[in-house]
Amino acid sequence: TVLVVDFGAQYAQLIARRVREARVYSEIVPHTMPVEQMLAKKPKAIILSGGPASVYADDAPSVDPALFQSGVAAFGICYGFQAMTVALGGQVARTGLSEFGRTQVEIVAPGSLLQGVPQGPSVWMSHNDSVTQPPPGFDVLAMSDATPVAAFENADMGLAGVQWHPEVLHTEHGQAMLEHFLFDVAGARPSWTMVNIVDEAVEVVRQQVGEKRIICGLSGGVDSSVAAALVQRAVGDQLTCVFVDHGLLREGEAEQVERDFVAATGVDLYVVEAADRFLTALKDVDDPETKRKIIGREFIRAFEEAAREIVAKAGADGDEVEFLVQGTLYPDVVESGGGEGAANIKSHHNVGGLPEDLQFTLVEPLRWLFKDEVRAVGEQLGIPADIVWRQPFPGPGLAIRIIGSVTGERLEILRRADAIARAELTAAGLDRDVWQFPVVLLADVRSVGVQGDGRTYGHPVVLRPVSSEDAMTADWSRLPYELLERISTRITNEVAEVNRVVLDVTSKPPGTIEWE
Ligand code: XMP
Repeated sequence: TVLVVDFGAQYAQLIARRVREARVYSEIVPHTMPVEQMLAKKPKAIILSGGPASVYADDAPSVDPALFQSGVAAFGICYGFQAMTVALGGQVARTGLSEFGRTQVEIVAPGSLLQGVPQGPSVWMSHNDSVTQPPPGFDVLAMSDATPVAAFENADMGLAGVQWHPEVLHTEHGQAMLEHFLFDVAGARPSWTMVNIVDEAVEVVRQQVGEKRIICGLSGGVDSSVAAALVQRAVGDQLTCVFVDHGLLREGEAEQVERDFVAATGVDLYVVEAADRFLTALKDVDDPETKRKIIGREFIRAFEEAAREIVAKAGADGDEVEFLVQGTLYPDVVESGGGEGAANIKSHHNVGGLPEDLQFTLVEPLRWLFKDEVRAVGEQLGIPADIVWRQPFPGPGLAIRIIGSVTGERLEILRRADAIARAELTAAGLDRDVWQFPVVLLADVRSVGVQGDGRTYGHPVVLRPVSSEDAMTADWSRLPYELLERISTRITNEVAEVNRVVLDVTSKPPGTIEWE
């Protein structure tokens, strides 16, 4: 294990991902964790992340020097580099020279860390303070215009640090630098492979569940599908999957779950046909939060009913359902661990967001994985590519992509427009370049158009393609004009109720990905 000590959330997650890309397992821990507790995890190395603070600020998080006496290899990045300097007796000062963004550094001596990196690499910096003197016994490896000490190491002690951010893509050879630390300075080995991940996770689930019965809410999304397949691999037909068809899915999705997923995994599936019930509950509701709450509530009801029936059936063999599978991912775990009382922007409803009243013990086989790792596990488990590579889709489905109240007719209009946009994106070979591609129906807006010889008074749809690494932030995708043109022409030709197609060019923030 490599521990990434979190001094500022966004950096720590990225570092942990890059370490795993080097096939070394990594975990994020808060900087408030006492050193003994970190060492108790027997880490091969500890990485101190960047963070927003200045080491000289009053409330600046510091590093316990005991960490560096422990013999465990350590790597300081940005703030972590400066905190390490101070803890080891070097000097950090406000020089009045700051560096933000792309910066060229000069390699003074490559050491282990920068071996093989061509002279004058472009790196990503973000700092006001600078290290002016390395701790005693450390070699300076690089400098920049603003800082005389931009990187250092003491290979004998297994300690190294850089002022820049090797984890961001803008840093040339950043991954190589990180790997030199892991393999050459810390002596780690690349053993975190997909086969290992799957085998380990399967074993853990087997231990936890034993001979008991277990159920899983299946949404058709990547996470719940992979979680279900993994649990199925572990405990076979002790697992029943519950799929609530709420009628708010996109074209072909329900079939994909009922047919393709079952075919690939052989899982025991219980389908709740609840489309009418959801539509009735949503009648005349146009407020986004109210929609979300209603959908969440109906989900719970449908799920409870299914659970009762499954329990009743299983009860015949004297077996109660004790466990519930959830597709929780590592970023969710890290974020809720932070517990900073983030503002409630939207009420997210996962299929799984219901264990409290259901009184099940949770099984979360993906809680150590990032999204891209979950996809790799899915492929390893033989789940069809069009499920594994599916773009994220919100639990409340198309209901939050209809601006206005939800009706069967509006759902049908949106479903057809959405299917065209998706098909054209796929045909253009761009599925994996786009994080998500919502199509939104402005059901309460009408505009005048002309089609054939007649006036039309139809609805606009909005195309909202975005690129993102984790959905926390996003940018609008620059799709080729020809593709946008094809989508626009086909939608207005083939979906009679739509006479206008518009493109959303808002990043997140300030816009969210979904419109509601
Ligand atoms: P926003 O719109 O907040 O969305 O930028 C961020 C990501 O979350 C998805 N999303 C949801 N997922 N239940 C879900 O499971 C929800 O209620 C929900 N709302 C938004 C959204 O599609 C995007 O990927």
